[in-house]
Amino acid sequence: MVEWDPRAYLKQYYSIPYIPDDSRALLTFLLEQLNRRPEGYERAIEFGCGPTLYTGLALSPHVRQLHLADYLPSNLEELQLWLTDAPGAHDWSVYVRAILEQELGRLPTREEMAARETELRKKVTGLHLADIRQSNPLGSPQEFDLVTSFFCIEAVSPDLSDWETFLCNLSSLVATNGTMVLAAVRLCSEYEVLGRMFPTARVDESDFERILPACGFDPNSLVVRAVPITEWTDEGFDSICLVSARKLR
Ligand SMILES: C[S@@+](CC[C@H](N)C(=O)[O-])C[C@H]1O[C@@H](n2cnc3c(N)ncnc32)[C@H](O)[C@@H]1O
Repeated sequence: MVEWDPRAYLKQYYSIPYIPDDSRALLTFLLEQLNRRPEGYERAIEFGCGPTLYTGLALSPHVRQLHLADYLPSNLEELQLWLTDAPGAHDWSVYVRAILEQELGRLPTREEMAARETELRKKVTGLHLADIRQSNPLGSPQEFDLVTSFFCIEAVSPDLSDWETFLCNLSSLVATNGTMVLAAVRLCSEYEVLGRMFPTARVDESDFERILPACGFDPNSLVVRAVPITEWTDEGFDSICLVSARKLR
């Protein structure tokens, strides 16, 4: 992905003073899937997280260890700023408040918000450079009982057969009986980040339903939803796919 600017991406998509409808739908879905396993997860990875931590903030109470992976060193540097509470780090407080409000059913206190941020900083135990085009996306075989990835693999190549390969590469990180939770822009061929168009694989629910069983997931475990989105129509997409699946082998 050329000419990617983590700051520009954060400014356009994660700096408005409310939660846009795609993030809200994604976080509601993620929480719903996480709550299906009250014992939580030992080792989770958020793959292709870019410079963002909004999903990590939701994952944190449900996982013992959280690994973050992305292709670009500049994205990992931006994450590191926040993880070390460095000056100039992105402010995720709008998301912290909304996630806690959803969990608690009331507005959180300042102390509760600070505690969530501290918890996430403690639970992130690995930052990884990764490439989904490789059969071992982390460079060596590794397994996690929870793998999440949001708006990543469809952004790597517009070619549908590449996307299928990437989905299976990502699946290789999921342990037997592990869970994968995904979000993708739906039926979108390109979208805009601060004036530049990024081509994407044009996928919908049927693509996940077709490929995930072939990547080792239980067809009966598949949850695949199409959700209409109004916030980013001008940027190039008006719906997203939300997906959850359990690995059989
Ligand atoms: C649209 S952003 C999504 C970021 C974040 N997950 C979110 O929800 O906003 C796509 C991400 O895919 C990453 N990416 C691009 N090529 C990749 C590759 N070959 N392997 C892994 N990640 C890649 C980019 O660096 C970028 O962070």
